[in-house]
Amino acid sequence: MSDFSTSLNEVSNEAALKELESEYLGKKGKLKAILAGVKDLSIEDKKTIGVKANEMKKQFITDLEKKAVEIEIAVFAQIEADEAIDVTVWYPSENLGHKHPISHASELLEDIFISLGFKIEDGPQVESEEFAFDKLNIPADHPARDVWDTFWISDDINKDKDIWDRLLLRPHTSPVQIRTMLKGELPVKIIAPGRVFRYEQEDARHTCNFYQLEGLVVGEGVTFGDLKWTLDTVMKQLLWEKTQLRFRPSIFPFTEPSAEVDVSCQICSGTGEVKWKKCSMCSATGWVELLWAGMVHPNVLEWCGIDHKKYSGFAFGMWIDRIAAQRFGVSSSRMFYQNKLKLNEQF
Ligand code: PHE
Repeated sequence: MSDFSTSLNEVSNEAALKELESEYLGKKGKLKAILAGVKDLSIEDKKTIGVKANEMKKQFITDLEKKAVEIEIAVFAQIEADEAIDVTVWYPSENLGHKHPISHASELLEDIFISLGFKIEDGPQVESEEFAFDKLNIPADHPARDVWDTFWISDDINKDKDIWDRLLLRPHTSPVQIRTMLKGELPVKIIAPGRVFRYEQEDARHTCNFYQLEGLVVGEGVTFGDLKWTLDTVMKQLLWEKTQLRFRPSIFPFTEPSAEVDVSCQICSGTGEVKWKKCSMCSATGWVELLWAGMVHPNVLEWCGIDHKKYSGFAFGMWIDRIAAQRFGVSSSRMFYQNKLKLNEQF
């Protein structure tokens, strides 16, 4: 019995426990041998030794079962310890990347417009001549087409199309105005951020592809005052609360009257100077041209099935790249396209 107890104490795993079990209780086990010998004993001895041997057997079984549970608990405790996650362990982090400054600026603008009740619309980058020009009051022979130096889709594809169906890479986001109004739902209050393309000589402020954000509001009694309030509110929220806006008369075929809108330069706070030197961002004028706007031309409303006597609207466009440059204090928006991670990662 004490041999058994000593051996049981030494057992630490399931295999050893099985071995001990068969050593004592198995077919050729020690206890089996004693029990087998009982039949040759005197009646007297049979009683005492036989009873004892059976008690021992029961005790062995209980002890073995107890040990089996202990081993199981120990095994699970070990698994738990091995598989536990140490949240304090240092691990070199994966480089997950981050938003490009233009996406960042676009999302800041989207959030501000959404807070003012605008919805976001989208349009294709490969657009028809009709939506990019004709329906915007810019017919084929109109000199204003020169302003939008356009990339046309190759003649192979365009040659069999009617003239207004010819395809081009959209040079502005204004076609989304047409697409939205043609849906026939009024009032309209949308912005359309997106990529545009122009056949440009590249310099600090011009790139062949860039991002615009179009805005359009159409309803009853919409005024130029609403337009001014909207742009003023958005720019103050995006840049800083002392931002000033300056409206200058301009011409766009699809708006009348039209304006170019300057914003007081963030870099020099509109003073034209940074540390007693001329501000390079605004060429020392204190103003940067960031927005274009006007009241939607009656022709454009009519061609989209909207009664211009009952409804009026305003539209505006901005260059997200230039806004990102202002917002993040980068002197040339072209830098955003040069894949310089050191620049992009700062924002
Ligand atoms: N689409 C014009 C451009 O790209 C900008 C603009 C939009 C002007 C809306 C007026 C109204 O130059």
